[in-house]
Amino acid sequence: MDANTSFALYAERRARLAALLGPGGIAIVPTAPERTRNRDSEYLFRFDSYFYYLTGFTEPNAWLVITAEGESTLFCNPKDLEREIWDGYRLGPEAAPGALGLHQAHPTPALDSELPKLLENRRTVWFPFAIHAGLEGRIDGWLQKVRTRVRYGALCPDAQRDLCGLLDEMRLVKDAHEIAIMRRAGQISAQAHIRAMQRSAAMIRAGEDVREYHLDAELLHEFRQHGSQYPAYGSIVAAGANACVLHYRADNAPVRDGDLVLIDAGCELDGYASDITRTFPANGKFTGPQRDLYNLVLASQEAAVAATRPGARFIDPHDATVRVLAQGMLDLGLLDKNDVGHLDDVIEQRHYFRHYMHRTGHWLGLDVHDCGSYVEPGEVGTTSERRDPLSGEIIKDRPSRILRPGMVLTIEPGLYVSPAADVPKHFWNMGIRIEDDAVVTETGCELMSRGVPVLADEIEALMRA
Ligand code: GLY
Ligand code: MN
Ligand code: MN
Repeated sequence: MDANTSFALYAERRARLAALLGPGGIAIVPTAPERTRNRDSEYLFRFDSYFYYLTGFTEPNAWLVITAEGESTLFCNPKDLEREIWDGYRLGPEAAPGALGLHQAHPTPALDSELPKLLENRRTVWFPFAIHAGLEGRIDGWLQKVRTRVRYGALCPDAQRDLCGLLDEMRLVKDAHEIAIMRRAGQISAQAHIRAMQRSAAMIRAGEDVREYHLDAELLHEFRQHGSQYPAYGSIVAAGANACVLHYRADNAPVRDGDLVLIDAGCELDGYASDITRTFPANGKFTGPQRDLYNLVLASQEAAVAATRPGARFIDPHDATVRVLAQGMLDLGLLDKNDVGHLDDVIEQRHYFRHYMHRTGHWLGLDVHDCGSYVEPGEVGTTSERRDPLSGEIIKDRPSRILRPGMVLTIEPGLYVSPAADVPKHFWNMGIRIEDDAVVTETGCELMSRGVPVLADEIEALMRA
């Protein structure tokens, strides 16, 4: 994409947002703060996803203000040759309007003097609620300044509204530009998984001491080699029983001949996340019980993929997954029929939760757990109540989101078997998850992450290579 196309893309998003602000509306969107890691070192800066969605601007310490009339103002770091020697190039407010297609730009230190002027005679102030610590206080300060001018005839806004709802709806349906980036992110991440699988088998064949971090290093290599800026989230590389810890992070545990390894890792590319999980035998060959459990998870994923299509509900892939997994748990003896009854009981009483305790997916986009309501907006008021059989809590169900082309979600069933006397010993400590990234199409869905295979035979074949 050339500069003008990308320029137009962000301008079009700002115009769409402006049209939603209502008469007299004004929106304030800061980027993320820089954060200290320890003493003089900072965490790698990552912009705020809402701010980036509307500007494509990646510098820290920046703010965007949009009026309902479509006027956009950027606040950004002023040019400062000394700071630029230390920290790098700054676009600066003089160049920003031309470079980003905005109406005007000011240096960020001018926020406190300019914002009261921008807020004067406005009716509704929109900003992201509960995301930026201290933002409400700053807006209060600017509104106080507007109030002091009421006696001169100025009008002070009389309403504040959460901007997240509007932006979440916009971000939920991805455009062609976003999907192209996400496809590429999926390809890079898929290659990274292949690389890690092959390294695992090669090291085990060579009799080397394989550690989880060796495989993590392969992922990072592949991400960066193809221009990804960083992992989209902390990579999970979990050998053996560690795979049963859902939020385990790549550490230094040994990867043993005979173990299964679960890798949940995806790169972030130009702001967009990918999110892939594969589970494979460390040595490249599934044992019988490993294959049985793996094929069950895969069958449940296939059912979920078939349920991911326009017009279906977000919850449908989850329900399809649970049905297959629950039946498999009964068939493989992970649940005892005498204790838990039949398939419908296992589902209704949530007995399956013992081995499958998470949802089958989430929205994916600029954030790995991307924004967007999981409830269909037109049906928010339709509720039904039920008592959760496990927690005893009353849960209010609202109709789940209807899937539409351009929505992107993960499909990630799993099975996690903790040791217990009533579970066949050959399944103990196995943790298996298979996760792919799906974009809803006109007729079904496209899996953007299948550059790394999922069939057990295909995984074995690539690990022999
Ligand atoms: N990697 C985070 C998730 O799968 O939700
Ligand atoms: Mn995920
Ligand atoms: Mn994941």
